[in-house]
Amino acid sequence: MDKQQHTIGTPLSPSAIKVMLLGSGELGKEVIIALQRLGVETIAVDRYANAPGHQVAHRAHVINMADGRALRELIMQEQPDLVVPEIEAIATDELVAIEYEGLARVTPTARAAQLTMNREGIRCLAAETLSLVTSPYAFANSLEELNVAIENGIGYPCIVKPVMSSSGKGQSKIDSSTDVETAWNYAASGSRVDQGRVIVEGFIPFDYEITQLTVRAMNAAGEVETHFCESIGHVQVNGDYVESWQPQPMSTVALQRSREIAQKITENLGGLGIFGVELFIKGDEVWFSEVSPRPHDTGMVTMCTQIQNEFELHARAILGLPVDTRSHSPGASAVIYGQMDAQDIAFTNVDEALRVPNSDLRLFGKPESFVRRRMGVALATGVDINEARERAKQVANKVVPIKN
Ligand SMILES: Nc1ncnc2c1ncn2[C@@H]1O[C@H](COP(=O)(O)OP(=O)(O)O)[C@@H](O)[C@H]1O
Ligand SMILES: [Mg+2]
Repeated sequence: MDKQQHTIGTPLSPSAIKVMLLGSGELGKEVIIALQRLGVETIAVDRYANAPGHQVAHRAHVINMADGRALRELIMQEQPDLVVPEIEAIATDELVAIEYEGLARVTPTARAAQLTMNREGIRCLAAETLSLVTSPYAFANSLEELNVAIENGIGYPCIVKPVMSSSGKGQSKIDSSTDVETAWNYAASGSRVDQGRVIVEGFIPFDYEITQLTVRAMNAAGEVETHFCESIGHVQVNGDYVESWQPQPMSTVALQRSREIAQKITENLGGLGIFGVELFIKGDEVWFSEVSPRPHDTGMVTMCTQIQNEFELHARAILGLPVDTRSHSPGASAVIYGQMDAQDIAFTNVDEALRVPNSDLRLFGKPESFVRRRMGVALATGVDINEARERAKQVANKVVPIKN
């Protein structure tokens, strides 16, 4: 059978639409659930066994996704129609080749995955090719180069980040020349692949930061159309998200500029699917920060605020189906951390937590906990974001992780 995008067959049969998730954490798990509900055959891949998405997919595989050969072998074996990168640390060169050879379609595009896995690729595209406003930035391959870059223009305060890292890993803010060496060493320790290259960015004293979820989906005429979700505000601690809410109140000008930026960057990256465009806002000024060509962690709030949450939007968009980005209530999310380094932990007081009005909970089922590992998320709606935030934080605080 000729599998057309808008035709969905039977899972585990020749007619099935097969989707492979590369990365099967809490975000991948929700994408898989959304795909399962549409009758799609799902294949979850991660670097360790029993990852959250492994627990809900038709098949689970454990491979090193940064290993191009292993990745190609698995794709040849499974023959998915679509490959959905959920993390950044993937052999994206191999994805480009796989897409080029027509072995599978990569969402949104292999190029988007390749450009966003390295801060250099996406920053140069945004600032130099598309002329979007970003923080001042420079790249450095050594402590000496870093010092020169800061002295020659970036100045203090500034932020040093490994070019390949996520969730704030290896990232630090520096206020004076005495901190540069510590920041350089910390970046080297937190870097994912490349041990020796950092970006240094001028610090933007923003009023607040947002994620502009942006969906590229097919319309009835078969053209790609861009849809925007309401802005998501969030709080980051050491570069990692702890709380998010929707909608973030914004001036009309700031909202319009944010969407113009989101439209430009996602149009350039192309393909179908959801993108999390991260922006810094001060008054009416807007800076582009970075973009994920996939659901965004701060977007977990949409599981309680939107008619179709970000995972459902992604699932629909990549399948060529129509989307609805409307929200039905203000809401908030608050992260639940493991608070300990241990395997097989338990969460107590869940009943008390869920007695908070309008609340909900996701426990991801990760087999191993770390002190600052995200193990779950509390969700709540309210009459406004203040009430929702209070509730979500209450829920998160009531859930107590214990050693089993
Ligand atoms: N140039 C900057 N100015 C001010 N804050 C920043 C800057 N860069 C990063 N941050 C803060 O650190 C967070 C994480 O940085 P980001 O570049 O998004 O890294 P990651 O890829 O790890 O998410 C941002 O959400 C923001 O709160
Ligand atoms: Mg970020």
